[in-house]
Amino acid sequence: MIKVSASLLAADPLALGEAATRMQAAGVDWLHVDVMDGHFVPNLNFGPAVVAALRQHTSLPLDVHLMLDHPEEYIETFIRAGADWLTIHQEIAADVPALLRRIRALGARPGLSIKPDTPAQAALPLLPLADLVLVMTVHPGFGGQKLIPGALGKLSALRDAAGALGRPMHWQVDGGIGPENAVLAVQAGADVLVMGSALVSAPNPADVAAQIHAL
Ligand code: DX5
Ligand code: ZN
Repeated sequence: MIKVSASLLAADPLALGEAATRMQAAGVDWLHVDVMDGHFVPNLNFGPAVVAALRQHTSLPLDVHLMLDHPEEYIETFIRAGADWLTIHQEIAADVPALLRRIRALGARPGLSIKPDTPAQAALPLLPLADLVLVMTVHPGFGGQKLIPGALGKLSALRDAAGALGRPMHWQVDGGIGPENAVLAVQAGADVLVMGSALVSAPNPADVAAQIHAL
């Protein structure tokens, strides 16, 4: 079944616990927590304390998306805080293979993300080290943007290459995904859809989650 990861970036920051409870009641599969450093992306938001507070509040897996130039300084902190999945970006200057290995060694599941302008080829050598690939479908930094459909085309090349590895992986898309275009993402090869504004701000998020689960 296609999974829904609800992005709390779209929630009222003063009511994150309530949003997490509402998303769990709506039947979502994971909670997506966007972490931004004001350098890798032009925005700032949640830190490890928010992840730790969410961990106390919900039993849903926490899918933490690190949009940080220097995740090496915070990987351990986020895993101790309760991140189940920890995704870093391919585009950073750090030693990405070493960081993916470290995430796994510390007990979380490593994810690798690429921005819309990054070619699929850039991620290929890293596939053996990741359990999840996140193909960004907007330029990261803000919720509520419009899907860049061309980014979806990268999923098939990545999935083909990963097929040779012979192990299960998740294929995530993030940015501008809603009920109107979710089928395109699934047809392109995604199996985990991150949804912020189209889900968290929906009057009936359970209907939205059910629609995605039915794809
Ligand atoms: C953007 C974030 C996304 C964002 C998606 O940088 O990575 O997770 O919350 O929000 P929507 O679904 O509103 O585009
Ligand atoms: Zn995200």
